[in-house]
Amino acid sequence: MNPEQISNLAHAAHPIKSPLDDTSVSRLLDGALPREGGRVLDLGCGTAEWLLRALEARPGLRAVGVDTSESALALARAAAQERGVADRLELHCVKAEEYVAPEPFDLVLSVGAAHAFGGLLPTLAAARTRLAAGGSVLIGDGYWLSEPTAEAVEMLGDFTDLATTVDRVVAEGWVPVNGHASTRQELDAYEWSLWGELAAWALDHPDDPESAGLLAWSHARRDEWLHTYRDSFGFLTLVLRR
Ligand SMILES: C[S@@+](CC[C@H](N)C(=O)[O-])C[C@H]1O[C@@H](n2cnc3c(N)ncnc32)[C@H](O)[C@@H]1O
Repeated sequence: MNPEQISNLAHAAHPIKSPLDDTSVSRLLDGALPREGGRVLDLGCGTAEWLLRALEARPGLRAVGVDTSESALALARAAAQERGVADRLELHCVKAEEYVAPEPFDLVLSVGAAHAFGGLLPTLAAARTRLAAGGSVLIGDGYWLSEPTAEAVEMLGDFTDLATTVDRVVAEGWVPVNGHASTRQELDAYEWSLWGELAAWALDHPDDPESAGLLAWSHARRDEWLHTYRDSFGFLTLVLRR
C-alpha cells in the first residue's frame, strides 16, 4: 500500500480527516455556510467530507474541492454519487496553492492542510484571494496546548499557543466569528480511530503480505502520538471574516 492508501484505510471510521466530531463539524458549517445558494471551495479537501456534508445541508449550494490525492478524490466522487450531490460538486486534482478559481467563493474551507501553504497565515492569505466580498473562511490547524518537546516540533511543525495563534490571525485583519478548540475527547478519538483501524485491518487480513508491516506501523504511530505529542498538540478551527 502507498501512503495515500494507508491514509484512506486509517480514516475509514473517521471520514473527517481532522480531530473534530460530527457535532462540531455541523455547528461550524452551519454558522459559516451561506443561507441560500452560494459557492464553497475546500483547499486540501481530502475525501471532501466537509463539502459533502455542506451540500447535503444546503440544497442550493455548489462546491469545489481541490486536493493532490487522486485516490482521496476518487473516494469523494463515489461518495458524492451515493449521497446524491455529485451534480453540485466539482473536484480538481491539483496543488491547492496552484488552483486558479474562475469566480470568488462565499466560503473557503481549509482544514488540516495548512502545511501545503507553509502554515496558517499563508493559508489565510491564499484563501483570501479566492474569497468573495463579505465571504467567510473556515480554517483548521494545530496549536500547542503546552510546551512541545523538540521532537514534537520536528514531527508536527512550529505552532504557537492558542492565544498567540488567534492574536496573529486577528493582526492580519481577520475577525473570528466562530471557533472551536478540539476537546481532549475529539483529539483522542481521532488518534485511536486512525491507528486502531489500521491495526484491525491487519488482524482481519492475517494472510495479506502487507498485514505484519501495517500492524507494526500502526503500533509505531500510536507510540509516537502517546510518547511525543499527545500532551502538547491541540487543534483549532476558526470561522473568519474581514
Ligand atoms: C489531514 S488531510 C485533511 C482533509 C480534509 N480537509 C478534512 O479535514 O477531512 C490533508 C489533505 O491535504 C492534502 N494536501 C496536502 N498537500 C496538498 C497540496 N499541496 N494541495 C492540495 N492538497 C494537499 C492531502 O492530500 C490531504 O488530503
